[in-house]
Amino acid sequence: MAEFNNILTEVKEGVLYLTVNREDKMNALNFDTLEELKAIFDEVADSKSIKGVIITGAGERAFVAGADISEIAELNEVNARKFAENGQEIFSMIENLHKPVIAVTNGFTLGGGCELAMACHMRIASANAKFGQPEVNLGIIPGYGGTQRLTILIGRGKANELMMTGEMIDANEALTLGLVNHVLPTKADAISKAEEIIEKIISKAPLAIGMIIDCVNAAFLSDENGFQTEANCFARCVKSGDYKEGTTAFLEKRKPNFRGE
Ligand code: COA
Repeated sequence: MAEFNNILTEVKEGVLYLTVNREDKMNALNFDTLEELKAIFDEVADSKSIKGVIITGAGERAFVAGADISEIAELNEVNARKFAENGQEIFSMIENLHKPVIAVTNGFTLGGGCELAMACHMRIASANAKFGQPEVNLGIIPGYGGTQRLTILIGRGKANELMMTGEMIDANEALTLGLVNHVLPTKADAISKAEEIIEKIISKAPLAIGMIIDCVNAAFLSDENGFQTEANCFARCVKSGDYKEGTTAFLEKRKPNFRGE
C-alpha cells in the first residue's frame, strides 16, 4: 500500500491497521485526510490480501476530534453541500465495504470522528473514550451522515439530545446506549478485543460476510425491501464454493477451508 501524509497503514495477517495520524490536531479530519481514506478504501475493496480493517487514531488523547474546524470555517453554502456529500460518500464506502471494519476509539471521538466510527461495522472503546456531536456549538449540524447513523444506533430521543445539546458522553454511557459494542480498560486492550473479533470474522466465508453487511445495511434503507435483499443474498451464497465447502465440512465433521469463491 502507498504511503500517506495523514494516515499510517500496516497490514498484518490479513488485517489493515489504519491510523489517522494528525496527533497535534487531535486527528481532525481535513480534506486531504478524507481523500486518503477514500484512496485506501478503494484499494481495500479490490485487495485479495486485506480481509478486514481496524481503524484507530494516533496517540492516547483522541480517536478523531471531528472535521478540521479551520477548513469548516471557510465554507460557503455551495461548497458546504459538496463538503457534506463528499464525506457522506466516503463514509458510505466504509459502511458498504464487503469486509469487516472495526473502529477502536480512545479519547475524543467527536463530530466527524464519531461519524467515522459509526460508519464502521462495530466500535470498541477504551474506558477514556468520549463521544459527541458538538457541531451545534459551531452553528452547524453533523454532515457526514451523523444525523442518520446516530439516530439508527441509539434512537431518536437520545440522538436528538446528544446533537441538540452538543454534550459528550463517556464510554460506559455509549455502551449502554448501544453506540459501542465493548468497552475495555485501555487502548491496547481495545485493539486486542478488535483483533479477537476480526480474526473470527475473517475465518468465515467472505462472501457470506459481505452479504450480511448488505442485508444489515438494507434494514435502514427506506427504498429497499430488506427481506427481499436477504433472500437474494441467501441465494447468492448458495451459488458459492464456500457454501459447498461449509456444508460438506460439517457433514464430514471437519473444519471448513473457505476460499472466498
Ligand atoms: N479541528 C481542528 N483542530 C482541532 C480540532 C478540530 N476538530 N480539534 C482539536 N483541534 C486542535 C486544536 O485546535 C489544538 O490545536 P493547536 O494546538 O494548534 O491550538 C489541538 O488540536 C489540541 O486541542 P485543544 O483544544 O488544545 O485540546 P483540549 O484538550 O483543550 O480540548 C477538545 C480537546 C477535543 C475538547 C477540543 O479540541 C475541541 O473541542 N475540539 C473540537 C471538537 C469539535 O467541535 N468537533 C466537531 C467539529 S465539526
